[in-house]
Amino acid sequence: MNAKSLPIVRTVADLRATVAGWRRAGETVALIPTMGYLHEGHLALVRRGRELADRAVATLFVNPTQFGPTEDLARYPRDEAGDAAKLAGAGCDLLFAPDAAEMYPPGFATSVSVGGVSQGLCGAFRPQMFGGVALVVTKLLLQALPDVAVFGEKDYQQLQVIRRFVRDLDIPVRIEGGATVREPDGLAMSSRNSYLTPVERAVAPALNRALVRAAAALGGGRDAGPVLAEARASILAAGFASVDYIDLRDAESLAPLERVAGPARLLAAAWLGKARLIDNVAVVFAPGGSES
Ligand code: PAJ
Repeated sequence: MNAKSLPIVRTVADLRATVAGWRRAGETVALIPTMGYLHEGHLALVRRGRELADRAVATLFVNPTQFGPTEDLARYPRDEAGDAAKLAGAGCDLLFAPDAAEMYPPGFATSVSVGGVSQGLCGAFRPQMFGGVALVVTKLLLQALPDVAVFGEKDYQQLQVIRRFVRDLDIPVRIEGGATVREPDGLAMSSRNSYLTPVERAVAPALNRALVRAAAALGGGRDAGPVLAEARASILAAGFASVDYIDLRDAESLAPLERVAGPARLLAAAWLGKARLIDNVAVVFAPGGSES
């Protein structure tokens, strides 16, 4: 069976016209924002969108406002034709792929700034990122006006930031989180994994291994300090160049925790060659349930 080819629109007007047609037919719409170079993690969100709504719209825009001046905007991997084929195979109905001038016309002067959950973790190391994410996701939601938008838990802090400003700004859309899709060895799928050399790729799963081991110890009630220090040391010993952070947080507010007593999340970012890898796992409170 041939996958159908995917309609692509590049202007907000065309996006709105297509969505309006579906609305007139009584159909519901899911939005899946991406920066492209798609992998199974993205496609799982598209399939989830298709379960939650009659139509799934993916967006592809490498958003310049969320990259810092020394970050990887220029070399961010791109493959629009490949992405369109994958999306068609995953049951996507439409791809919105605007250029920068469509999203940020001359004279653009507006920002969206989110406090609280934006601070710390990635916000401390990439100060531009969550403002840029909040701005572009606000625009995409208002452009498409979907019933539901789907984001991955892979970017857990981003998901919490999006939930926060959608609630704060009364944007009428439901936000759904999708579980992190991993390679068989545990490495979280990421477009940036393409930066890794074969040797680095073999080292990369150590990040998830350290998180899983530490999460078991923390869920058993151990103090965060020594457990996190051990995890950090094991990530560096495996061959990572540096660890930006490894932190235990409340699963919703992302407030720092010394010990687990309810829903918690363990999050980390670390450098391996040219790639800054992030990952996170749930910490399940199970006192007496861990040996370590
Ligand atoms: P991007 O990194 O392309 O990710 C697009 C969506 O896919 C995000 O919701 C992200 O959390 C999700 N995702 C990425 N890897 C995943 C994995 N292994 N498993 C499950 N979901 C995964 O995140 C962005 O783009 C941008 O910041 C964006 C939200 C599009 C705003 O520009």
